[in-house]
Amino acid sequence: MFIESFKVDSPNVKYTDGEIHSVYGYETTELVHESRNGTYQWVVKPKTVKYEFKTDTHVPKLGVMLVGWGGNNGSTLTAGVIANREGISWATKDKVQQANYFGSLTQASAIRVGSYNGEEIYAPFKSLLPMVNPDEIVFGGWDISDMNLADAMARAKVLDIDLQKQLRPYMEHMVPLPGIYDPDFIAANQGSRANNVIKGTKKEQVQQIIKDIKEFKEANKVDKVVVLWTANTERYSNVVVGLNDTMDNLFSSLDRNEPEISPSTLYAIACVLENVPFINGSPQNTFVP
Ligand SMILES: NC(=O)c1ccc[n+]([C@@H]2O[C@H](COP(=O)([O-])OP(=O)(O)OC[C@H]3O[C@@H](n4cnc5c(N)ncnc54)[C@H](O)[C@@H]3O)[C@@H](O)[C@H]2O)c1
Repeated sequence: MFIESFKVDSPNVKYTDGEIHSVYGYETTELVHESRNGTYQWVVKPKTVKYEFKTDTHVPKLGVMLVGWGGNNGSTLTAGVIANREGISWATKDKVQQANYFGSLTQASAIRVGSYNGEEIYAPFKSLLPMVNPDEIVFGGWDISDMNLADAMARAKVLDIDLQKQLRPYMEHMVPLPGIYDPDFIAANQGSRANNVIKGTKKEQVQQIIKDIKEFKEANKVDKVVVLWTANTERYSNVVVGLNDTMDNLFSSLDRNEPEISPSTLYAIACVLENVPFINGSPQNTFVP
């Protein structure tokens, strides 16, 4: 059977006005190296780590700013959400396809929550905790190419042409903000599309990203912003003692405009200073130790 929602009655869960407090005991193991009967041996011992979670039950109006908004990922994600929000259907070679969230962990999956009279009971994943409805997310972001999102969707060649035609009016006015470009960190073939870049020193570039986040928040009246890196994978940054090994050293290197600080680190610094989560969607070491 399937239920739409539920409450938890447990000594580990407390509902207050606007928050859910929960305590979770994570069962793990710990290794110790001990001397027993005169010889050292490795001993595995069980260990419980206690986590306390506090969930705000007020679902915010959410803005998502993508770094690399005009790429394959950025344009396809934006298009997919608009297609769902607008209930678009389109003709493929086989049939008429209706937009849906199949494949989305939060929107399309269910989870077993218990049994009732011997029957397994499932609930939608999205009912586990208060969650933003993706249809309501406001998208924005940066790209080193100034191509609008409708043209970017065409360049990506991911979506069926009939769907692209219907999405175009929603996307052609969406133009990415100028991004931070440093050819030393990404493949040389990106140089030809870099026509939308933030000028100035690294410190000035960070300040521009902070300004962009504030203005996006204000213009779209969103409560929270999340920044997601979906731009090209950067080369690894060298971790150098005195340069980027501590927060203080990183800030002084920023003041000195040191070349080894990557664009993704600059976006991340801006997010940390602006108290906005930064998610790294590519395999680079943005958060150097
Ligand atoms: N985490 C995952 O599961 C997953 C899956 C697929 C791809 N990826 C990663 O996502 C990234 C993007 O993939 P894609 O196929 O969309 O690539 P893409 O080349 O189509 O898009 C990248 C976009 O980033 C822009 N860009 C490059 N550097 C930038 C910068 N410093 N600031 C702003 N914009 C910048 C480019 O102009 C381009 O539009 C890649 O790094 C890839 O490795 C991750």
